[in-house]
Amino acid sequence: MPTATDVREQVVELAREFAREKIEPFAAEWDRTSHFPRDVIDELGKLGFLGMCTPEEYEGMGLDTITYLMVLEEISAADSALAVSIGIHNAIPTTMLVKHGTREQKERWLKPMARGELLAGFALSEAEAGSDAASLRSQAIKDGKHWVLNGAKAWATNAGTADLMMIMVRTDTPNARRGAKGISTFIVPTDSKGYKPAKPEDKMGLRASNTAGIELNDLRLPADQMLGDEGMGFVYAMEGLDAGRLGIGAQGVGIARKALELSLKYCAERKQFGKAIEDFQAVQFKLADMATRIEAARALAQRAAARKDAGEDVTLYASMAKLFASETAMWVTTQAIQLFGGYGYMRDFPVEKLFRDAKVTEIYEGTSEIQRIVIARALTRHS
Ligand code: CAA
Repeated sequence: MPTATDVREQVVELAREFAREKIEPFAAEWDRTSHFPRDVIDELGKLGFLGMCTPEEYEGMGLDTITYLMVLEEISAADSALAVSIGIHNAIPTTMLVKHGTREQKERWLKPMARGELLAGFALSEAEAGSDAASLRSQAIKDGKHWVLNGAKAWATNAGTADLMMIMVRTDTPNARRGAKGISTFIVPTDSKGYKPAKPEDKMGLRASNTAGIELNDLRLPADQMLGDEGMGFVYAMEGLDAGRLGIGAQGVGIARKALELSLKYCAERKQFGKAIEDFQAVQFKLADMATRIEAARALAQRAAARKDAGEDVTLYASMAKLFASETAMWVTTQAIQLFGGYGYMRDFPVEKLFRDAKVTEIYEGTSEIQRIVIARALTRHS
């Protein structure tokens, strides 16, 4: 009988090998051509990596959160565009369905998601509702046993490539607005009539992931495709983001780790003034700080994951992990470019991609400023 540690080692090793052979060699080309590698995601799905956090009773791997973060770190180090495409699926729609789905919804959606047959995403933001997510305006109106959705979502990962999206819309009425309590979550198959993904965004980084707006045009859904209770969609989105933000923590660590690995190799090989640049103390100090921050970011994310696995509330710690890891990724990749000098600024060298990919970790799933708000609110909350 394998122990939990054996399972962790095997799963992480499988992810590492897959990333080394089937992701990393192609990541630069996918980035250049903005190619979304659905075939590779399907392969990961067949190996169980679209059901990492899904309990075994729903055909998932039932991994603990620490193992999940270790897998995401491996995939992010190879290509964080691919990591976010599967990270969102594993964290947000999966968490929402596990926690709030009915038995029928779990049979119909969660199990095929865990088997890797359906790729899922999540749509909360709108053009006028980014950080202030509760101000979203897309609307669902009840029509007998159906809901009819209209509106427009923005910047949703997988919007044009998913089979299924969890979409947050208002279910309160214009003359009785209820703020965050007027939002509900719907399970929306992307082949529904009235679901129209916009042209994929032309992004600075993560160019191989699909990010797009969604038009909702009289999209008619049976009432049993509402998730959980009416008016609870904002809370479900925040719960999903607690899981998602931990994943972004691991993504930041993976990006930063790769930048350090490349920098160490380059600094050993690159000679200036008659010696390898790793022999200069200015370079050594940079490398030392990069490595120290990465270790700290990983430890913070894994500590938060351990709290989650122990059943504790992790809102505060998920925000800390995301904040620190994303700022670490940006700082470390900036140092890496500096170490590579002129070469670092060129597209031919991979640190340039890592720098571009790092930036969004400080923005999506809540900006660094929003994470600081969440942390400060938790610290100053008086019971
Ligand atoms: N878990 C459970 N419930 C939560 C919660 C959490 N983590 N956070 C808040 N809630 C609950 C609150 O308890 C409150 O309920 P009660 O009134 O019953 O107590 C309700 O939700 C409203 O909470 P707030 O009053 O705190 O709401 P707010 O309007 O002040 O917003 C916020 C708080 C933290 C700023 C929130 O709006 C936020 O996180 N904003 C950033 C949004 C974000 O991360 N967007 C990213 C979208 S995904 C993406 O990036 C695209 C992609 O595909 C990658």
